[in-house]
Amino acid sequence: KSSGEGNANGKIILMGEHSVVYGKPAIAFPFQPTHVTAEITDHIYDVLRSGYFVGPLAKAPKSLENIKTLIHQLRHDFSTPPVQITISSTIPAERGMGSSAAVAVAITRAFFDWQNLPLSHELLLTYVNYAEKISHGNPSGIDAAATAGDEPILFQKSAAFETFPINISGFLIVADTGVKGKTRQTVKAVAQRFEQDNKTTGHLINELGDLTLKAKKAILNNQAAYLGELMNAAQKNLAALQVSDQTLDNLIMVANQNGALGAKLTGGGKGGCMIALASDYSTAKKITTALTNQGAKATWIQELGVYQYA
Ligand code: MEV
Repeated sequence: KSSGEGNANGKIILMGEHSVVYGKPAIAFPFQPTHVTAEITDHIYDVLRSGYFVGPLAKAPKSLENIKTLIHQLRHDFSTPPVQITISSTIPAERGMGSSAAVAVAITRAFFDWQNLPLSHELLLTYVNYAEKISHGNPSGIDAAATAGDEPILFQKSAAFETFPINISGFLIVADTGVKGKTRQTVKAVAQRFEQDNKTTGHLINELGDLTLKAKKAILNNQAAYLGELMNAAQKNLAALQVSDQTLDNLIMVANQNGALGAKLTGGGKGGCMIALASDYSTAKKITTALTNQGAKATWIQELGVYQYA
């Protein structure tokens, strides 16, 4: 084949970011309003064409080191000639929506399509996590698993993840603070806190794991109000772990003041995105308007349980 194509969704972590790094369960959704496509074609040398950089891959900035490493590894493992990689993405970068994992998923899929080789889910995740180690330092693997799939997942490190039906009616609001998230730094900061005070930090992490399991039950039993309370409780713990910030706290407060059942940060924190839960579409609209008025750079609404499975 002279070209190959691959794609992936953005993702939203509903519950369990950070504690998932410590082996606790987390729930993530594919976030279908956002996606990324990668195309690979033969070329005389490695070239990248993306919204951030167009030029020889060797000259790509450090922030694209993950793509560089992934391409080198793939080309090395399959002894292929150079490639041109074209990426087009509607996932905002560095906002906790899994853009780095999604790009790696799309590239790996495009590469295997180009080579006309079968790609197992396991092998896909192996390559994506390889790239994610460079982006995030110590990734749990949840971003890779969520962006590679098209169903909500309950993810636990080093365990096979389960998909489960979203039996809950409600609307998820996502708002971008407009500030780059700092997943690598926040993951490291939590690790340092854990080293300094493993009792308090461990307790906060354990509670986040328990809240995730309760959230799964709430979803299966269609208890939106209860799920909202659990989201608020998770946000308290994330704030205590110091991965929230004033911009996130403010948007979370505004969402709750405008009728949200609950709200929290999503992903790495310290910038990035927040999420809120609303029982109906008109409340969701009211919340997005209020968030925009408070400075949110972009907002999205996704009806829960309504997935167009690929
Ligand atoms: C980032 O989307 C989620 C974190 O839990 C980091 C990880 O799981 O690798 C903060």
